[in-house]
Amino acid sequence: MKVLVTKDYDELSKEAFKVMKDVLDANEAAVLGLATGSSPEGLYAEMVEDHKANGTSYKDVVTYNLDEYVGIDRNDPQSYYTFMNDHLFKHIDIDPDNTHVPYGDTAEDAKKYDDEVKGVDIQLLGIGRNGHIGFNEPGTPFDERTHIVELTESTRDANKRFFDNDINKVPTHAISQGIGTVMDAKKVLLIANGEDKADAIKAMIEGPLSIDCPASVLQNHPDCIVIIDEAAASKLSH
Ligand code: F6R
Repeated sequence: MKVLVTKDYDELSKEAFKVMKDVLDANEAAVLGLATGSSPEGLYAEMVEDHKANGTSYKDVVTYNLDEYVGIDRNDPQSYYTFMNDHLFKHIDIDPDNTHVPYGDTAEDAKKYDDEVKGVDIQLLGIGRNGHIGFNEPGTPFDERTHIVELTESTRDANKRFFDNDINKVPTHAISQGIGTVMDAKKVLLIANGEDKADAIKAMIEGPLSIDCPASVLQNHPDCIVIIDEAAASKLSH
C-alpha cells in the first residue's frame, strides 16, 4: 500500500487526478470503477476540467459504480445514478451505454451486476468513518461479491446530510459491490479527507487485517495507492 499525504483537499484531488489520468493515457478503452460521495467530487471536477481544456476523451471508456441505494428511484436527486450524471457523465463524452450503476434489491440483481463488472483497470474508493468500502460494513466477509446490504446507523447518520439532515429519510439498504469484487481491480485508488476519517485511515493502514475494518483488506492488494489530506492522516504513527 502506497500512501501519499497532501496538505489539503484541493491538492488531494489534483494528485488523485494524476493517478486516474495515467490509467486513461495508457488505455483509451480503460475500465474505471467509480465511487460517489463527497470524497471524489474534486477529482471528478478535475476530470471534467481536463476533458474541456485538453480534450481527454472518454468515448471508449467503460465505468462500473460501486453501489446504489435500494428503494429510491434512479432519477431521484439523491440516487447515485443522478450523482454520477451530475458530477461527471453529462460533462464528458462518455457513451451512456458504457456507464453502469448497480440497481435493484434482490440477490439476482446483485449477481447479474457482479457478472457484468469485468476487467476494472482502476477502482476509486472513499472510506466510511467505520472503515467501510463501497457499502461493505464492518463484519462483511472479504470474499463477498455484489450483494444487498443493510446500512449501519453510523453510515446512515453520516449520509443524512444529503437527506434534509433527517436519518429517517436515508434508505436502510443498498446494493453494493462486494469486497471480493473490489479486490479484483488491477489498481485501487482510495481517497479520504478530514478528521472524521482519521480513525478509519489508521485502522486501514496500521491495524490488523480484520473484517472489523473492511478497508484493511487493501493491505493485501498488490497495487493500492491511498491519497489523504493531513487531517485524515493525523492519527497515523508516522
Ligand atoms: C460511495 C461509497 C462509500 C463512500 C464512503 C465515504 O460510492 O461507496 O463507501 O465512499 O461512505 O463517503 P464520503 O466520500 O461522502 O465521505
